Amino acid sequence: MRVEIDGISKSYVDSAGAPLHVVGGLTASIEQGEFVCIIGPSGCGKSTLLGMLGGLLPPDAGTIRFSGDRTATGEMTSIVWQDYALIPWRSIIDNVAFGLEVRGVGKQERKAIAQGYLETMGIGAFANAQPKQLSGGMRQRAGIARALASDPEVLLMDEPFAAVDAQTRTLLQEELLTVWENHRKTVIFITHGIEEALLLADRVLVLSGRPTKVVEDLKVPFARPRTADIAQTPEFGELKQHLWERLRDATRAAEWAEVEGANS
Ligand SMILES: Nc1ncnc2c1ncn2[C@@H]1O[C@H](COP(=O)(O)OP(=O)(O)O)[C@@H](O)[C@H]1O
Ligand SMILES: [Mg+2]
Repeated sequence: MRVEIDGISKSYVDSAGAPLHVVGGLTASIEQGEFVCIIGPSGCGKSTLLGMLGGLLPPDAGTIRFSGDRTATGEMTSIVWQDYALIPWRSIIDNVAFGLEVRGVGKQERKAIAQGYLETMGIGAFANAQPKQLSGGMRQRAGIARALASDPEVLLMDEPFAAVDAQTRTLLQEELLTVWENHRKTVIFITHGIEEALLLADRVLVLSGRPTKVVEDLKVPFARPRTADIAQTPEFGELKQHLWERLRDATRAAEWAEVEGANS
């Protein structure tokens, strides 16, 4: 499913009652089956953008359009959050099946579908465990299985691997790439890891500080399938440096604006 984001804006009201302009006329398009990573300064509005893409909050202005050859069935998007967002009193399989249950899919069928995605994510043996019995990495595998189980057109991921240790993160990245190669969902993945973005994405969008918009649209040239080994190549190093400079500029500008705003 192709995603066309056309000039969307969003403001909040801050704790002092003043408007906080977070997203400022952001435009981008993401192709069917494309894997796009988004990086930007902390607090610039990345989660807000994802919330709008997921239909959880409406833009104040502008439009988001989904279009593709496949007619959307059921939910168009699923979101994977950083903190797993599993329901603590439900077993892993019942968490994964939750979206299907809400949609009225019968018990046997939804259990079978959920078990399939647990197998895909390599945690089939933990179907009946409670979330608290699992490691962070396993919980996030369950979070991804849950998102996939509702067969979304577009998978939205908000810094999903930020809370796990570095080794587990590398495994999860490679697993996610394998799943994506097999399912070819459109993926919009927010991260603050430049290396993570270069490893995963077809394209990296760099966002400015608030009000945020796209300041760089970088095509990632590495062949697929990829593994973490590409990080050793000189080309990877050059792109990493380039993205770091863009992100540093955006972060500085955001910090300056914040201080000036506070002093004006
Ligand atoms: N519901 C809200 N009300 C007021 N301000 C908010 C709300 N949600 C987020 N913000 C503020 O909007 C800005 C962008 O937030 P967010 O989208 O979470 O940024 P990011 O994900 O890039 O770190 C931050 O300054 C945050 O404090
Ligand atoms: Mg965020």
